Amino acid sequence: MDYIQAKQKISRIIEESNPSSVLQDVVDFLYETFGAYSWIGIYLVKGSELILGPWRGKQATEHSTIPLGKGICGSAAKTGKTEIVDDVKNDSRYLSCFLSTRSEIVVPIFSQGKVIGEIDIDSDIPAAFTKNDAAFLEHVAEQLSAFINDRG
Ligand code: SME
Repeated sequence: MDYIQAKQKISRIIEESNPSSVLQDVVDFLYETFGAYSWIGIYLVKGSELILGPWRGKQATEHSTIPLGKGICGSAAKTGKTEIVDDVKNDSRYLSCFLSTRSEIVVPIFSQGKVIGEIDIDSDIPAAFTKNDAAFLEHVAEQLSAFINDRG
């Protein structure tokens, strides 16, 4: 499936899903559609922390709470910039979750200019994430913003 079809499918999920399950349904769709996306989670900003929300992957992560500014996730949340890490072993910020992970992308989710959450994807493939993934996932993040309770 290409990114255009995937965007259309996500629009359909948003129209048809129960609003309370949209985040999980989109995570499931991404996991089932993109083979390089080995683990997908949505973190939500609560105060000075990121709290793991819906996720999909073979294993749970021990990092279900991450302070803002820590790890690649905390960096993206603090700066509001998408992070692409081609080789997690070469990034000193990296908080290890799975031994199999080689690369990672983190895309912030905004509401009214503020980061309210993020999409975090690990891949078992080195340098799995391109600018096209970033553009696609930034679009997904915009779509999901309305489904996150901004009470952080
Ligand atoms: N690797 C992330 C932590 C979250 S796990 O990938 C699920 C980081 O460095 O922030």
